[in-house]
Amino acid sequence: MRILFVGDVVGSMGRDMITDYLPKLKKKFRPQVTIVNGENAASGRGITEKIYKKFLQDGADVVTLGNHTWDNRDIFEFIADAKKMVRPANFPEATTPGQGIVYVKVNQVELAVINLQGRTFMVDLDDPFKKIDEMVTEARKRTPLIFVDFHAETTSEKQAMGWFLDGRVSAVLGTHTHVQTNDARILPEGTAYLTDVGMTGPYDGILGMKRDAVIGKFRTALPHRFEVVESGRSNLSYAVLEIDDQTGRAKKIEIGQINEDSPFKD
Ligand SMILES: [Fe+2]
Repeated sequence: MRILFVGDVVGSMGRDMITDYLPKLKKKFRPQVTIVNGENAASGRGITEKIYKKFLQDGADVVTLGNHTWDNRDIFEFIADAKKMVRPANFPEATTPGQGIVYVKVNQVELAVINLQGRTFMVDLDDPFKKIDEMVTEARKRTPLIFVDFHAETTSEKQAMGWFLDGRVSAVLGTHTHVQTNDARILPEGTAYLTDVGMTGPYDGILGMKRDAVIGKFRTALPHRFEVVESGRSNLSYAVLEIDDQTGRAKKIEIGQINEDSPFKD
């Protein structure tokens, strides 16, 4: 099974990149499953039903989320019916709407897609290691093909998760820090690993936000209103995985970006 994963879509520029390039990337790589992280898609914070549906229309099979899941109130209206959307699985189970895992079936092969959130320098959710341990044991009764979007702040927590799951899941790909890292590899027991896939949206902002406010905050330590960049140059960040259908082991991981410095090639 081939999987295409696109990192954190930020604002309208990120959404336009999905509309423009997802079909082209799918034509180029021919993935059986396409996954998009959409937690920053609505003006940098959260996602709406309209955006979720547009992602599916543009070619996504599953939309993953993260710490901004609840930022747009719209989410509470549609998450229960959004069968192709996963929010971090380690939010408190009894009180959190939505789901942390979704199964996608392609021909006779099934892929489990899990979204999980880190705790270091983030909200103190349930232990992601304990949670994923239970989830993987359960999911493996159904399929060895398991994809984990680990939405976390620190490289160390992401690496720890990669090694913790090596040989038990097909891939642990990091999101949230918005800059693509150059450490894509397949760990010894067959898990594809990448610290961060990077973001999809403004190319010239600071993590997608207008630069002046971010620089101002650093220079003055006073509150500044952060707004998403809405015009100028764009970027798209992705990873492509090749997974063995029988064993669930990753065979290949390739990363890429589309922007003015590295234009899309067929
Ligand atoms: Fe995030």
